[in-house]
Amino acid sequence: MVSLKQLAVASFVSSVATASVRRGAAPPAPASSVTCNGKAYAYNNLAGFGSLASDARDQYGDTISIGSSMVIRDWKKAGKKYKGTMYGLPDRGWNTNGTQNTIPRVHIFDLTFTPAPDASVAKPAGPNIEFDYKRTILLSGPDGKPMTGLDPDFTGGYTYTGFPTMPAATYPGDGFGGPGPGDKRISLDAEGLVVLDDGSFWISDEYGPFVYQFDSKGNMLSAIQPPDALLPIRKGQVSFNSNTPPIYDHSLVPTPADPDHGRQNNQGFEGLSISPDGTTLWVLLQSAARQDGGASSSKRRNTRLLKYSLARASSNNKNKHDPTAQATYKAEYVVPLPTFQNAEGKTRVAAQSELHYVSDTQFLVLPRDSSVGRGTADPLSRYRHVDVIDIAAATDIKGAKYDDIANGNITAGGIVDASDKLPPSITPATLCPFIDYNLNTELSKFATASGDAVHNGLPVNLGLLNEKWEALALVPVNPNANGKGCDGDEYYLFTLSDNDFITNNGYANFGKIKFVDDTATVPFLDSQALVFKVTLPRGSKPLVG
Ligand SMILES: *[C@@H]1O[C@H](CO)[C@@H](O)[C@H](O)[C@H]1NC(C)=O
Ligand SMILES: *[C@@H]1O[C@H](CO)[C@@H](O)[C@H](O)[C@H]1NC(C)=O
Repeated sequence: MVSLKQLAVASFVSSVATASVRRGAAPPAPASSVTCNGKAYAYNNLAGFGSLASDARDQYGDTISIGSSMVIRDWKKAGKKYKGTMYGLPDRGWNTNGTQNTIPRVHIFDLTFTPAPDASVAKPAGPNIEFDYKRTILLSGPDGKPMTGLDPDFTGGYTYTGFPTMPAATYPGDGFGGPGPGDKRISLDAEGLVVLDDGSFWISDEYGPFVYQFDSKGNMLSAIQPPDALLPIRKGQVSFNSNTPPIYDHSLVPTPADPDHGRQNNQGFEGLSISPDGTTLWVLLQSAARQDGGASSSKRRNTRLLKYSLARASSNNKNKHDPTAQATYKAEYVVPLPTFQNAEGKTRVAAQSELHYVSDTQFLVLPRDSSVGRGTADPLSRYRHVDVIDIAAATDIKGAKYDDIANGNITAGGIVDASDKLPPSITPATLCPFIDYNLNTELSKFATASGDAVHNGLPVNLGLLNEKWEALALVPVNPNANGKGCDGDEYYLFTLSDNDFITNNGYANFGKIKFVDDTATVPFLDSQALVFKVTLPRGSKPLVG
């Protein structure tokens, strides 16, 4: 076996040699670039690949999944490596055979990234991202009771003084199908994460769809209910249920299956970001609300971006347990998602899975196709991007008309006839295509530990990209002394796949339940990570983390 030391020396020598050749030469052309409303972005090259075993377990004995959202903090350069603290957000627990009473959580890892500047398709580099699991924060409601991943009740919710009525599930037994006393808990389907300097964090959800604030120990501090137009409504009533029945009773389906108005089932607040000064929260719906074309997979492109201003510095805020003091709804914009042709040649909207702040008018967004990639029957993804959205010229639609609970449609047909036609009075954001994940000329500069080149499409092996990519984190190539800012405009953009807890060696309910997921085309779906090296517009002050 070649020792790691020998490998390290070999690569050191070759990188010194290349560096001296490169000095003075023009930098290599970027893999792609785009100018969005006068601001130049470049995807320079793929800079990293890594994976986390699908049967890794946390301190509570449960299977780890991480890719619904991510944050990297404490980023620093240490010799030839970078180190940081990574927060990984799992989805609502193992759910491919029904939702269950998994306590939502955040996992914390030490992250090590070792750049491989000489990686090429001819001589691919091995995995260069390491995840060293540290600990897990379990999430609980304002009263300290654990939250749950179970699909919420058809009507009603959890009430607590000073909070809006929150999605909640009433369950029998232990909520996994076994014996127990039953209970009612606040339901969370976690999709977006931001972490503040004091260790507190915000999580966006797709049941409500709500946004929740937690202290560093995972206790809920506040909850943001969305504008009325996004609340899911069935038969004239708020109905948080997402038509994903619990594992113990697959017959618990709502009537009608889909909401008449408001967010579509399982298309909630996937995108969450915050301005670096911590004063503004940005929230993006996965795809159009029902009344805005959401009923049609080819028309659901006009989704909504919400802006909330926050009471400054929560740790200095005397009213920090007064939820009404936290977030104020400020503005709302229409974001047109990209469309693509699927395998059957049909037009489909690429729903988005993550948002990342670049400036007050520009954001990175992660739109992608679904049901393709490793674990599914079709290995070929046709649209999987990080794109740029610009809202400089977009109309602020916040107000009674478009936020109405019954007739808040922004597109022509409303709930009757799904359409993507906006009135002339609404100027949507501009969408600028930026990074294509699926470029095999970049992907195959890296290979798995077993030697499979990273790629999109055939062959099906460990190097095939997973279906669901849902997390973004941005850190500087040249961090300045405090580890926050950047000397220059180059960044590493990390992204993670959400593996939906798909493994044949799974554990839930504090390790007491063993599960075997047999729904995927592979028995073990490891979480995957990629790193894109990017240049952001000159002088950018994006969210680092
Ligand atoms: C899925 O749930 C059903 C109903 O509870 C159960 O009978 C079946 O064994 C479950 N399948 C797996 C793979 O756990
Ligand atoms: C909303 O939908 C109704 C039909 O239900 C339609 O008459 C109206 O023009 C739509 N509004 C917009 C802004 O397109």
